[in-house]
Amino acid sequence: MPVVIASGNGINATAMAMEKIRQGIDTLDAVVAGVNLVEEDPNEMTVGYGGYPNDQGVVELDACVMHGPTYRAGSVGALKGVKRPSRVAQLVMERTDHIMLVGDGALAFAKAHGFKEEDLLTEKAREAWLKWKESLSDQDDWLGEDERKLGFERPTGTINCCALNEKGELSGTTTTSGLAFKIPGRVGDSPIIGAGLYVDNEVGAAGATGRGEAVILSSGSRIVVENMRHGMKPHEAILDVLERICQKTVDRRLLYRKGYPKFNDTFYAINKDGEYACAAIYPGAKFAVHNGKENALQDAGYLLERPEDG
Ligand code: GLY
Repeated sequence: MPVVIASGNGINATAMAMEKIRQGIDTLDAVVAGVNLVEEDPNEMTVGYGGYPNDQGVVELDACVMHGPTYRAGSVGALKGVKRPSRVAQLVMERTDHIMLVGDGALAFAKAHGFKEEDLLTEKAREAWLKWKESLSDQDDWLGEDERKLGFERPTGTINCCALNEKGELSGTTTTSGLAFKIPGRVGDSPIIGAGLYVDNEVGAAGATGRGEAVILSSGSRIVVENMRHGMKPHEAILDVLERICQKTVDRRLLYRKGYPKFNDTFYAINKDGEYACAAIYPGAKFAVHNGKENALQDAGYLLERPEDG
């Protein structure tokens, strides 16, 4: 202790959060300050400003926070025009009697708290959206280069960051621009307490990145924490949830020939003793860890090797 972990895009977030924790700042303020760096970075195209837009070319953001010591949470879904949705989620927690605000209501709330409404679509994200739109069909009027069939896998990148301080206090946040080119109004797991994030100060914290629909269906982060409550170490707790996701994915359009999911999900967990883990369905993921001494990327564990047609 203390420990801060995050998804692989969060190496600057873990450094910032640890710096704040060392200054005695609350773990929730620390993780939100950490992910704010990533939300404001136009080069991170799956979170905040510069994130991939929805199918109309508009960036819509989801985020949540959870504070272990007070067992409180806040969240925003389908929020447009605000660069730091995790901070708005924190204000929903601190300044309302609610957990979740969405769409225009979330934007009005953010503006009431002094957030500027800005265009979050960068040139790079607009070009990626236009290429996607042009390659959707050879029956429409949007012509791509050679009716480009890009084979482009739609990202569901996200940042999750969880922290434990020396007093044993835990907090977490998850923030994302969601599935690239989603139907407007689609909300993934990231702002849903129990899915993209869950914190119980007596047990541990967990968060998720990847295909949000599978994480919502499995109540993933909540089950990771419940598994730790019943004695599992973080790694084992995560693998159990990944196994359940694989078992429950029966829709053929989501499966490779071998019956394995065509998507990936990754979970991150810290327990009350400062033990932590990250694992995904398939290999290749990295995650960021600040263990109080050093800040580094580590290889995530995994459940399955990708099948040959994957
Ligand atoms: N996990 C991010 C999303 O599905 O929106």
